[in-house]
Amino acid sequence: MIKDIESILVSTEEIDEITSRIAEQITNDYKDSEKKLVLICILKGSLMFTCELMKKINLPLEVDFMKVSSYGAKTVSSGVINIHLDMKREDFSECDFIIIEDIVDSGRTLSHLVRYLSERGASSVRSCTMLDKPSRRKVDFIPDYCGKEIPDEFAVGFGLDYNEKYRNLPYVGILKRKVYGG
Ligand code: IMP
Ligand code: MG
Repeated sequence: MIKDIESILVSTEEIDEITSRIAEQITNDYKDSEKKLVLICILKGSLMFTCELMKKINLPLEVDFMKVSSYGAKTVSSGVINIHLDMKREDFSECDFIIIEDIVDSGRTLSHLVRYLSERGASSVRSCTMLDKPSRRKVDFIPDYCGKEIPDEFAVGFGLDYNEKYRNLPYVGILKRKVYGG
């Protein structure tokens, strides 16, 4: 796998710093809330990021899962998000949700999910992403918590995939263009 990586974008040490910093912010921001704190892991990309964060948040919390995909550019960009797996819960009004994402690109996935959870009656909804590519934005969207802004390169590792591969790398790297024919 390493031979397909151009360079390291976020090292294992830096991921550790990022998750410590965000976990501390979240702990401070929610310590006085009387609602249930629920981290929503967006499968599959934010699996590792969610694990690291939840270990470091010093508050009672629940973890839940959603799986979504965006239709992206291929379907004339309606911005439609497909929900493949949803949360089975009835207590939206009792929950402070934080949606955990691997990366924000166009911004469609997270802006749609924030709206969707709000419409279902969530007490509050915030978003948290490990990586952000602000130069790629197609809709107005700023994540509440962000690990690191990166340039417009294709990133893999620490949960992020290309064709389901590379998720298990313990760092985030830039994939060589020849691998995806870019
Ligand atoms: P958005 O709705 O365009 O913001 O899409 C974000 C989703 O696109 C992420 O959850 C990823 O699944 C995928 N994505 C965007 N950029 C990358 C990348 O550099 N590497 C891997 N997946 C990416
Ligand atoms: Mg994803």
